[in-house]
Amino acid sequence: MEFVRLLLVFLHLLGMGMLIAMIFVQCRAGADAPVNKGWLHGSGLQLLTGVALVGIDPVVDSVSYNHIKIGVKLLVLVVIGVLVAMNVSKPASPKWLLPTLAGLVVFNVGLAVFWT
Ligand code: HEM
Repeated sequence: MEFVRLLLVFLHLLGMGMLIAMIFVQCRAGADAPVNKGWLHGSGLQLLTGVALVGIDPVVDSVSYNHIKIGVKLLVLVVIGVLVAMNVSKPASPKWLLPTLAGLVVFNVGLAVFWT
C-alpha cells in the first residue's frame, strides 16, 4: 500500500509540474490566446490523485492529513477548474485569467508546503 501512496504522490507532483508548465505555455501563447486544455488535464490529475491520497489515508500507517488544509486546497482547485471550464471554449481569454490561475496554482503549492 505504501507503494500506491508513493505512486499517487509521484503523479500529484507531476500534476503540479504540469500546472506550473501551463503558466509558461499560456504566457508564450500571448495575453489573450485561447485557454490551453492542458489546464484541465493538470487540474483533473491533481483532483484525482489528491482525492485518492486522502481516500487511502485510513489504510496507510503513519500518515495523517490536515483536513482543513486539504479542504482549502480542494476549494482553490475547484476555482481553478471552474475558471478554466468557463473560458476554455472562448476564442480569446480575458487578460486577468492567466495571472489569476498562476496565482492560485502557486498559492496551492505554498499551502501544500508551508501549512503543516
Ligand atoms: C493546484 C492544485 C494542487 C497543487 C499544486 C498541489 C500541490 C501539492 C504538493 C506540492 C504537495 C507535496 C507537499 C509536501 O509533500 O510537502 C502536495 C501534497 C498533497 N496534496 Fe496536493 N496539490 C493540489 C491539490 C490537491 C487536492 C485538490 C487535494 C485533495 C483533495 C490534495 C491532496 C494532497 C495530499 C493528501 C498531499 C500529501 C501527500 C503526501 O505527502 O502523502 N492536493 N500537493
